[in-house]
Amino acid sequence: MKLNLFEQLITNNPVRASIQRHIEGPMLRKMGSQRAYPLSLEIGCGSGIGAQVIAEQFGAQKVIATDIDPAQIDRARNNLMPEFRGRIEFKLEDAMALVEPDETFDAVFSFGVLHHMEDWRKAVKEIARVLKRGGEFFFEEPFRPFLKNILVRTLTAHPEGGEFDYEEFKAELTKNNIDMVNTKRIKDIAIFCVGRKQ
Ligand SMILES: C[S@@+](CC[C@H](N)C(=O)[O-])C[C@H]1O[C@@H](n2cnc3c(N)ncnc32)[C@H](O)[C@@H]1O
Repeated sequence: MKLNLFEQLITNNPVRASIQRHIEGPMLRKMGSQRAYPLSLEIGCGSGIGAQVIAEQFGAQKVIATDIDPAQIDRARNNLMPEFRGRIEFKLEDAMALVEPDETFDAVFSFGVLHHMEDWRKAVKEIARVLKRGGEFFFEEPFRPFLKNILVRTLTAHPEGGEFDYEEFKAELTKNNIDMVNTKRIKDIAIFCVGRKQ
C-alpha cells in the first residue's frame, strides 16, 4: 500500500536519510554476520537511501531496490549518487509477488515495509524464496500495538493485513525456514532483526 501524505513527509526527508546512514545501517550491519552480501535485494526502497547504505556498508556489488509506488521509484532514481550508478537498480515491484528466481540473493532488506502489506505473510514467503541458503534477512518493523495507537492511526494509513506481534512474526519466519539470529526488540513497539535462511 502506498504512503499517505504524512508518511511521505516523514520518509522523504534528510533526517530520515541521516538516520538510515548513521544509525540503522551501522546497527544492522553489526547485528549480522558482517560478511559481504554481493547481490542484495531491498523491498520498499522509498527514497532510495537504504539501497545506497546497502551498497556502502554491506559489501553489496549489486543492489536491486524495489517499491510498489512509481513516485517513490522516481525519487529514488533522482537521489542516486553518481558513484552508485551501475551498482543499484531501482524497479517497480510488489514485494508480495517478487519476479526474481528462487535462491537468488545473499541478503534481503526491509526497512519499515512489511506493515504496509495487505498480506505480510505473502511477503515473508517471497523473501524466504528468493534468499539463498545461509542468506540473511535484515529488517525493522513496528508491531501491532504501535500501529493501533490512536495518534499513529490518525496520521497514517496501514492495511490490517500488515499487522503482527512478535510471536506471530517469529512463527512465520520459522515456518519459512528463517531463524532469528540477532534481535533488538523495543517492547511491543518495534523490532530490528537479522534472520538467516537455513
Ligand atoms: C514506510 S516506507 C519506508 C521506505 C524506506 N524503506 C525507508 O526506510 O525510508 C514503506 C515503503 O514501502 C513501499 N511499499 C508498500 N507496499 C509495498 C509492496 N507491496 N511492495 C513493495 N513496496 C511496498 C511504499 O511505497 C513505501 O515506499
